[in-house]
Amino acid sequence: MLIDNHGRLVNYLRLAVTDRCNLRCFYCMPEEGNKWLSRDELLRGDEMLRISKILVNAGVEKIRITGGEPFIRKDIMQLLGDLSKLPGLKNLSVTTNGVLTAPLVPELKKIGIRSVNLSLDTLDKNRFFTITHRDEFDKVMNTLDQLLIHNFSVKINAVVMEGKNIGDIIPLVNLTKKSPVEIRFIEEMPFNGEGSHYPVLHWNFEKILDHIRTSYPEIRKSEDEPFGTSTNFQVPGHAGKIGVIAAYSRTFCGTCNRIRITPQGNLKTCLYDGGVGNIRDLMRNGASDEKILTTITERISRRALDGREAERMREPVHESMATIGG
Ligand code: 5AD
Ligand code: SF4
Repeated sequence: MLIDNHGRLVNYLRLAVTDRCNLRCFYCMPEEGNKWLSRDELLRGDEMLRISKILVNAGVEKIRITGGEPFIRKDIMQLLGDLSKLPGLKNLSVTTNGVLTAPLVPELKKIGIRSVNLSLDTLDKNRFFTITHRDEFDKVMNTLDQLLIHNFSVKINAVVMEGKNIGDIIPLVNLTKKSPVEIRFIEEMPFNGEGSHYPVLHWNFEKILDHIRTSYPEIRKSEDEPFGTSTNFQVPGHAGKIGVIAAYSRTFCGTCNRIRITPQGNLKTCLYDGGVGNIRDLMRNGASDEKILTTITERISRRALDGREAERMREPVHESMATIGG
């Protein structure tokens, strides 16, 4: 079992498989001038599988594939298939922007994936373009339909942005009336590749909730997932749920059970740290599985207490979520 220096069990890996994306979300990366990792810098499929195996053997039970956009990678279905067969892995899931995903939904189901997180900040085609700088709204909505038709457990991630999609908060909540989806409103974090957009966060979790209450005063607290980051609510009678993720306020660090591997193989023991070691280089220098595991456990034994501490211990951030891995 992997246990950190604050007594927290680490049993969840978030594996970012690419820094590239076919959208340019305002809160994630600039529209132009992005410097992508070279093919050589990226982890290969066999390297990602090896790290995953080592970690699953050490007690990791859940892996989420993120990016960038995972389905940009040509070998992604192969990797998902291989990961799904790892004995000891109880939960394999994917976060996607949905642009390329719809035709793959039946195969994802066959592989044994049960839940997908879909990044979707608006239900309006024009605002989608303003936020993502790409005209792909219809494909994303098609993915949502396909996921629901195939009975996936679907969580929609919507980053709440002043001046961009405040008018979408209530329409997204309305979606939960008939659809058994969970809409998760996420505080915007300063991970857009350029540094903070604003001096203070306009839309923190309390403000988001107050806003929802103006249309739905009857929302009530519902159960939170153990070790989850979202605080959940439900409108009585609605099929779906609402979650609020205090990604910037960081109210959930006390129960954090996750580590991250970035597309270039950096290990992160906190979303807000700058990387605490590169596993790709270790592997390419011939390290054994034991050596890799002891390196990871050593880093886990020096983990920051919370996202504030992790942030204080590093340089100011100019990272994109696409290289951090959601
Ligand atoms: N702030 C908050 N959430 C973000 N995401 C990407 N960039 C940011 C940011 N700057 C979210 C997206 C995606 C998930 C992986 O991370 O909504 O669903
Ligand atoms: Fe792509 Fe997701 Fe970043 Fe949007 S948030 S640009 S979909 S990686």
